Amino acid sequence: MVAAYKIVEHDYDVVIVGAGGAGLRAALGMSAAGLKTACVSKVFPTRSHTVAAQGGIAASLSNLDDDDWRFHMYDTVKGSDWLGDQDAIEYMVRNAAAAVIELENFGVPFSRTEDGRIYQRPFGGHTGDYGERMVRRACAAADRTGHAILHTLYQQSLKHQTNFFIEYFALELLMDDEGACRGVVAWCLEDGSIHIFRAQTTVLATGGYGRVYYTCTSAYTCTGDGSAMALRAGIPLQDMEFVQFHPTGVYGAGCLISEGVRGEGGYLTNSEGERFMERYAPKAKDLASRDVVSRAMAMEIRAGKGVGPEKDYMLLHIEHLPAEIIRERLPGISETARIFAGVDTTKEPIPVCPTVHYNMGGIPTNYHAEVIRPTKDNPDAVVPGLMAIGEAACVSVHGANRLGCNSLLDLVVFGRSAALRAAETIKPNGRLPSLSKEITDKAIGTFDQLRAAKGDGKVGEVRVDMQKAMQSNCAVFRDDATLKEGKAKLEQVYTKAKDIGLSDQSLIWNTDLVDYLELRNLMGQAVATMHSAAERPESRGAHARDDFPERDDQNWMKHSLAYVDESGKATIAYRPVHYYTLSNDVSPFPPQKRVY
Ligand code: FUM
Repeated sequence: MVAAYKIVEHDYDVVIVGAGGAGLRAALGMSAAGLKTACVSKVFPTRSHTVAAQGGIAASLSNLDDDDWRFHMYDTVKGSDWLGDQDAIEYMVRNAAAAVIELENFGVPFSRTEDGRIYQRPFGGHTGDYGERMVRRACAAADRTGHAILHTLYQQSLKHQTNFFIEYFALELLMDDEGACRGVVAWCLEDGSIHIFRAQTTVLATGGYGRVYYTCTSAYTCTGDGSAMALRAGIPLQDMEFVQFHPTGVYGAGCLISEGVRGEGGYLTNSEGERFMERYAPKAKDLASRDVVSRAMAMEIRAGKGVGPEKDYMLLHIEHLPAEIIRERLPGISETARIFAGVDTTKEPIPVCPTVHYNMGGIPTNYHAEVIRPTKDNPDAVVPGLMAIGEAACVSVHGANRLGCNSLLDLVVFGRSAALRAAETIKPNGRLPSLSKEITDKAIGTFDQLRAAKGDGKVGEVRVDMQKAMQSNCAVFRDDATLKEGKAKLEQVYTKAKDIGLSDQSLIWNTDLVDYLELRNLMGQAVATMHSAAERPESRGAHARDDFPERDDQNWMKHSLAYVDESGKATIAYRPVHYYTLSNDVSPFPPQKRVY
């Protein structure tokens, strides 16, 4: 049944879903290449979650220390615990310096050194000479780097005349019978109309799904809508067991306190006042990679050395730093600490604990941003007409653990790469392949059914059940028993979700319906994460198994692929890691023991 509301059809060369850093970088590049480009976003572009990125964007500019893209590549491969695809990593780090200079030319107001160059600060796992010394590689705009980049990219997209559809919620990909993507259906939140975007290429730039957890640094809107649409279109999600816990989320509130704080000289202590990171990472200490620091904090808490009445947080100190450094380089986190922890950072430490921050997993792509759906004969088979970029995608440059500041870099490098590929492969104003009405009717029919949900259950209650299951059963440390229990809890979530009813059945703005669509999107990704974790009996990067504490390269240096159907049934498969480089300028870095 298709309801009687306005249906509007649009024809574009490209439709991009999502207007964060990746979506906007792709949008401006595609528009500038003469492609008729639509960008559909459920929030106003400058409210996209990129706005919250703080500490910097990584590039071996050598403005303050001797650096090289090969050092950056080594750090990224090591940070990924050898699960990253080395061809894609080479592509990203080699393009990093040019990407940052391009951002500067676009107008990003980077902080400056005394002699006027882009300011760079140390960050976790950023080293020179292949791990021998720390380097300053994070190019920063104070502690509001994402904010500065997002606003600049939005202005550039407007300049190049991208057509924005703002506060439109993407519902379903339009996949034809040959498995190609022909566009996307979206719902206009303002007037309830349905929009069918037909395009030669559809780009998913919808960000991560942090909100699958109860406490995270991610915005309320981080519900992985594009990844969920891909799952429903039969495309697997890759490496979903790898969820990054940032060491320093504000205790109780979850807001991010940038790693840049430790880059500027901040440090962590336990309840005994001890700088415990010296024991876990003798060389890098507080600037070891995030998985290492988060695990160390969790172990200190387990050992009864947590701070506070429940001994469940650590203290982050910057009160020893000169006030002008805090004012100039860390103004945002000082405000956050004041508002969310009631702390004056010039006088007291900030209570922090490991908090869900980033999804290494996502829609599998190659380094041209083309989506991969492996076939029996080809693990790298491309889905025609579909691209994915940014946190929604798994290129995979982050592997099992992302290094700080490689996220903003990933957004702009692969946003640009998508634009270059589109310009190469798409003819401006080219003819669009025909699309049967059955396909669009099916997508709209599903939406109609969801909108008419009439049970007694509440969206909010089901969401909290899912989030608590993820928080307690798929956290920093995992084991077989907790993951099995987590899978059972998610089955109950699916059962409970069948009884959801919506409070307001109106065709137009309806927050309950938006929450319901987002919950549906999150649920599939929760299952993908829990099941992929249960099926990986080793510890690698952010996936730490108490029952399998070692990395097992012989059997498990491979990407997981999770397929999840509408009933929540998961099937896990695998594809090889790309253990090769793009050029002869560098050889693949062979697996080593990972110490910091
Ligand atoms: O700590 C931070 O400023 C976060 C940076 C990142 O996730 O890349």
